[in-house]
Amino acid sequence: ATVTYDFNVTWVTANPDGDFDRPVIGINGKWPIPQITANVGDNVVVNVQNLLGNESTSLHFHGLYMNGTAHMDGPEQVSQCAIPPGSSFTYNFTIDQPGTYWYHSHTHGQYPDGLRGPLIIHDPDSPFLGQYDEELVLTLSDWYHDLMTDLLPGFISKGNPTGAEPVPQNALFNETQNLKVKVEPGKTYLFRMINMGAFASQYVWFEGHNMTIVEVDGVYTQPAEAEMIYLSAAQRCSFLLTTRNETTANYAFVGSMDTTLFDVLPDDLNYNVTGWLVYDDGKPLPHPAFVDDLDGNTFDDMTLVPWDNQTLLGEPDKTVELNVIMDNLGDGANYAFFNNITYRAPKVPTLYTALSTGKLATNPAVYGGYTNTFVLEKGQIVQLIVNNLDTGRHPFHLHGRNFQAVYRSAEDAGTFEDSNVTEADFPSVPMRRDTFVLYPSGNVVLRFRADNPGIWLFHCHIEWHVASGLIATFVESPLDLQNTLTIPKDHYEVCVAGNVPTVGN
Ligand code: C2O
Repeated sequence: ATVTYDFNVTWVTANPDGDFDRPVIGINGKWPIPQITANVGDNVVVNVQNLLGNESTSLHFHGLYMNGTAHMDGPEQVSQCAIPPGSSFTYNFTIDQPGTYWYHSHTHGQYPDGLRGPLIIHDPDSPFLGQYDEELVLTLSDWYHDLMTDLLPGFISKGNPTGAEPVPQNALFNETQNLKVKVEPGKTYLFRMINMGAFASQYVWFEGHNMTIVEVDGVYTQPAEAEMIYLSAAQRCSFLLTTRNETTANYAFVGSMDTTLFDVLPDDLNYNVTGWLVYDDGKPLPHPAFVDDLDGNTFDDMTLVPWDNQTLLGEPDKTVELNVIMDNLGDGANYAFFNNITYRAPKVPTLYTALSTGKLATNPAVYGGYTNTFVLEKGQIVQLIVNNLDTGRHPFHLHGRNFQAVYRSAEDAGTFEDSNVTEADFPSVPMRRDTFVLYPSGNVVLRFRADNPGIWLFHCHIEWHVASGLIATFVESPLDLQNTLTIPKDHYEVCVAGNVPTVGN
């Protein structure tokens, strides 16, 4: 089937934390923005009309492979030009993967202003069908009272030499602080949990109930019991929750922002958000108990096993090693680097360069050194090693696929080389996901097969670090792209229409 969405993107006013009215980016006059829902195999068409007036935009469908439609992936100056105010643009792609995803603006620093929503793909062949009565979507996010266009210039400035990220005022569940989830006794619910935040990871737990994890980032898992789940920006986790057999009380559930990410803890910071499983409207909504050892109760995501038991890919054909560094460029402002490069967007989208440079498209130099491009050949097994020479946690996301999350060192372990880990230490059946957390001064190893021609970004999903340049570009099988992709006219027209410059670009 074809599922069509017509999205008019406009500014609206919202006050999700009850503290402060502010402009947010809505769709069709509403915020929170609508969920995109489809079935495996559907063709999805999203017609976007940018009516913001003062900002360009674009949409990325986070976690979708976009196999055969790399030009629909969404990041500005990568797979398209951003859509200027007054212009329209159509995304059109087929979805052949089940699970829990989200969509968000992929124009400089914009999604925390509200352009972020769930994208759910139902699966008639899910191994868990029949094990739950109902499904629910639970989004986590962090909330800023200020617009990104007001926060970004100060963030990247010589007044902020350490690169301290602005701290959100509040955490939200389903973009509100007052979430009541009506439940019935003795039923099992599938919760599809998505962290759509700009910055904060959250710990999530339900008082009086356990969670059974069955999917992360669109990949079914062997069922795993959890008391508390840590979910970084952009990660998803679905779990089954069975309600109690009586309706004598209501129960709180909590999202708690990981405050170790924050350089300062401002007075107005509310790092917890509470929601309630409501069994009986007439009964009180309890205040949650304080939990002090969050990490001690948290489920270890490295113990997850994919449902399909897909084994570790063989020895890599190509290894890419990236060192994360935070430093300045002599102007006093703080930037983020992979190796010695802080990403800057090219004038021409990288995809269009790949399509128009003939055989040269396999030479990373044609994309500009500042795009931090690595060219991959069809079928290669690629190993990506990321060493954190910084003291922050970074949730890394790769576009266009999931990857095997092969290894993660403990905090302060140093580089992968220092860890003295070999092939024999890797799990035989690693979990696959599309967003993976790297610990402070530690390292991670990811592995994937280059089986999806396209231009795929790899970046930290903390939106501040996207702005400060923590991005690399994978150009995969560019000669194949030249033979297979046809770019629709509206995609080129938005380039000609000319973009409104966005902050920091
Ligand atoms: Cu959620 Cu570059 O993406």
